[in-house]
Amino acid sequence: MNQRQGEHVIVTGTAQGIGKKVAELFAQARAHVWLLDCKLDKGKQVEEELREKGFNVTFQQLDVQRPEDIKAFFSRLAGENIVINTLVNNAGSSQFKRLNELEVTEWDAIMNTNVRSVMLMAKYCAPLMKAGGTIINIASTRALMSEPNSEAYAASKGAVIALTHALAASLSEKYIRVNAISPGWIETENYSQLREEDHHQHFSQRVGQASDVAKACLYLSSGDADFITGENVVIDGGMTRKMIYHH
Ligand SMILES: NC(=O)c1ccc[n+]([C@@H]2O[C@H](COP(=O)([O-])OP(=O)(O)OC[C@H]3O[C@@H](n4cnc5c(N)ncnc54)[C@H](O)[C@@H]3O)[C@@H](O)[C@H]2O)c1
Repeated sequence: MNQRQGEHVIVTGTAQGIGKKVAELFAQARAHVWLLDCKLDKGKQVEEELREKGFNVTFQQLDVQRPEDIKAFFSRLAGENIVINTLVNNAGSSQFKRLNELEVTEWDAIMNTNVRSVMLMAKYCAPLMKAGGTIINIASTRALMSEPNSEAYAASKGAVIALTHALAASLSEKYIRVNAISPGWIETENYSQLREEDHHQHFSQRVGQASDVAKACLYLSSGDADFITGENVVIDGGMTRKMIYHH
């Protein structure tokens, strides 16, 4: 319960969905959690909600697409001599568009939000970490398999997996571990009214919950996972292992 007391954890994209649950589980384990999101009102609301539960959290509005926001946030932490134990790069956005309608500006926005941000967050966070620090990047099973019209999102998440092992190599000198998690279908505010068949098409017989990802973040950032780095952990109820033939 108190296993993260005294630790500082940064989570991006905490105003809802997976990021909110990741932040909550680290806070429940008594870490000080820095909640980062571009949405001010929803971000502050989550901060309030978690503080009401007695958790130690601080919200900072930050757009991960903006390098200046990221730099300013880490300058603030450096000014306060804060040591970061864990960074979870969760903020992400998706846009599904037909290839012939996909604009360069839209491609760039997805890449900057989902990939460039991960590099920048790691770049500025690593100097504030000591040996044993960990970074977890949320990718997607769409890095490994596709539906039509997902070029930008799929490419961005594939890049997150590659960036993860590159960072694991570079930061190994400082004994910082870097891993990715690729969630499959996770029920969040973005999905409502799930059907029985949505659940039963999974080997697990259910769609995933944000807590499935959050619990894996806690494990990967713990000493128990000390030999795991550069890896991509797929959490999808077996969907990427499912062979599909249409008879
Ligand atoms: N839910 C799923 O089924 C699923 C599956 C695979 C991967 N993922 C990945 O998991 C992560 C979280 O997904 P989710 O379903 O919780 O998404 P969500 O849309 O519910 O929440 C994303 C959060 O990130 C924030 N965000 C978006 N762009 C931002 C920016 N530029 N700067 C700061 N914050 C920003 C949003 O405000 C929001 O609070 C994403 O990286 C997503 O790609 C989700």
